[in-house]
Amino acid sequence: MKKTQASQKQSSSKQASPKKSSRKAAAATAAAAPDEQSITSVLHESRLFPPPEQFSSVARVKSLREYKKLRKRAEEDPEGFWSDVANELHWHKPWRKLLQWKAPFAKWFVGGKTNMSYNCLDRHVEGWRKTKAAIIWEGEPGEQRTLTYGQLHHEVQKFANVLLSLGVRSGDTVGIYMGMVPESAIAMLACTRIGAAHNVVFGGFSAEALRDRMNDSNAKLIVTQDAAWRRGTEVKLKDAVDRAMPECPMVKHVVVLRRTGTPVAMHPGRDHWWDQMMESVSGRCAAVPLDSEHPLYFLYTSGSTGKPKGIFHTLGGSMVWNHYTTRMVFDVRDDDIYWCTADIGWVTGHSYVIYGPLLNGITTLMYEGAPNWPEPDRFWDIIERHRVSIFYTAPTAIRAFMRWGEGHPRKHDLGSLRLLGTVGEPINPEAWIWYQQTIGGGNCPIVDTWWQTETGGIMIAPLPGATPTKPGSATLPLPGIMADVVRKDGTSCKPDEGGFLVVKHPWPAMLRTIFGDDERYRKTYWSNYKGWYFTGDGARRDRDGYFWIMGRVDDVVNVAGHRLGTAEIESSLVSHHDVAESAVVARPDELKGNALVAFVTLKSDKTPSDQLKETLRNHVGKEIGHIAKPDEIRFTDALPKTRSGKIMRRLLREIASTGTISGDVTTLEDFSALERLRDGEEE
Ligand code: WT7
Repeated sequence: MKKTQASQKQSSSKQASPKKSSRKAAAATAAAAPDEQSITSVLHESRLFPPPEQFSSVARVKSLREYKKLRKRAEEDPEGFWSDVANELHWHKPWRKLLQWKAPFAKWFVGGKTNMSYNCLDRHVEGWRKTKAAIIWEGEPGEQRTLTYGQLHHEVQKFANVLLSLGVRSGDTVGIYMGMVPESAIAMLACTRIGAAHNVVFGGFSAEALRDRMNDSNAKLIVTQDAAWRRGTEVKLKDAVDRAMPECPMVKHVVVLRRTGTPVAMHPGRDHWWDQMMESVSGRCAAVPLDSEHPLYFLYTSGSTGKPKGIFHTLGGSMVWNHYTTRMVFDVRDDDIYWCTADIGWVTGHSYVIYGPLLNGITTLMYEGAPNWPEPDRFWDIIERHRVSIFYTAPTAIRAFMRWGEGHPRKHDLGSLRLLGTVGEPINPEAWIWYQQTIGGGNCPIVDTWWQTETGGIMIAPLPGATPTKPGSATLPLPGIMADVVRKDGTSCKPDEGGFLVVKHPWPAMLRTIFGDDERYRKTYWSNYKGWYFTGDGARRDRDGYFWIMGRVDDVVNVAGHRLGTAEIESSLVSHHDVAESAVVARPDELKGNALVAFVTLKSDKTPSDQLKETLRNHVGKEIGHIAKPDEIRFTDALPKTRSGKIMRRLLREIASTGTISGDVTTLEDFSALERLRDGEEE
């Protein structure tokens, strides 16, 4: 497909009235602001998509005017605003004080007592939702299971009793090292029921990563499974636990779920089978009323340097924010089948596979395996068979779907979809349009949601019935979120001037600290701007106040005195119809200070050539101006990514400048991608 032209044609015929596309070269803007204070923004995307009328007419928030009213109320009457939101949930004891803020330490709903598991389960089981599907699960080999709210409630109580019988108490930490099986949700909910904090470690991480995370968070018990299915092979989770255990002196017990049936070693006294333990416990375990600031979970993020940070979240604030944001951003309804494709090992899996959907009493779908197993149409097949209505995934996945070709989604009826979402990286406008047209059939609003592990939940995103969307923009902050783009000196940037994304007021789900390291917490997030949270992202705000995330500040490149966000140049490359994905980095250059190197992955059916390199350079020159034209283009069949799908630009910088890699590559998804790049191998 000739992407740009074709999709625009389609979009103007199907969409209510998207304004004409115009990508303006912004050389003038670029030349005007080349200082250390700010970041030069070069990409301008002005397509505008109003929410489809049939969506708005039944949405919770139906217009920008209503959104603005909510935002104003949250700012002027935070007590009233937050009380209304929090009181949609059950509190065993009401809070005395909404917020106690001694920068940079916040407490929310001070003095209140509540329970996450109670709010996700008991509240619904008391009414008609008892027989409603809470989790629909599909295994990679194809098995299907549905757990109603009533059944999930029962399983969670039993597993809570298993934890108690193995000595886990309120305030303890439980490690969860599992794949995408319903039992991982059961384990998480069981922890929250008795007041244990969970520390979920992504099943793709190594024994060493598991060991460090267990030790750093003082975990007493690990829940795991024999193995998990991934692309038809078994990921041996229990083996990895066994390798980590000799160096985890705090861990006393391991509970093992039988999933694939592969033989595993069981250490007497330490290891226990899930099914056997569940047989011997009672099905009743009351949810314990816990303080609003009681630990909810730890989740470790790697960041670009240093040892992983144990991001620490507490109960009341996370619960309220997960509930509220799921309701508002996905505008969930009782008849939705909601599917967020994230793994529970990431924060998205916590907030938007488990807690947000269950708090709202909707049906959440969990899929165990890979998107291209057995064929690249697996996701579309799942959507068709389960009649999924809300689909939430990552730009890296969308670019992979584009690369595999639109034949795969075209084979399936995706008519059940009514809303699409993305998270994790800036979405390239061309990928946005492809998503909207090919997956959404031109009828579904797209919510591009900006947030972080640290923020605990969505911060900047459209309200689908209210906010007109622009491809590539996360649009506007949610009511209650005071985001801004500022210069180094803290003054607000002008419209379209690139700067640093900050949040100027605490919000309920913000991280409380980096576990065991308040100093690092202070330094990382609160030292650049006094009293404001520094996100580490570059951004700009356009004339309508819309936020455009330009990527991590660490990835900004300085070319001939201009500080450019790599995301924009990458988006320009992806807008060429032969390109599937790209990553842009700088390497030292005698003349210009830095030269731009673009690593480019082509669509499956395209062939690399020198001529294409020249075409792509000129394409960027034409789209966004001479300043952003890559000096060098390197074709590759895969880019090095973290396991959560983020491109590791740090490694590419090293390859581009020295031709080798010396740094830490433990979080790399596919090591062979790197080997091939280093060897200069081209497709
Ligand atoms: C970083 C946070 C949030 C859950 C998954 C990632 C980038 C995230 C967007 C978006 C542009 C985005 C930012 C952010 N990011 N969402 N919609 N548009 N960039 O969580 O691993 O903590 O990463 O991901 O750079 O800081 P995370």
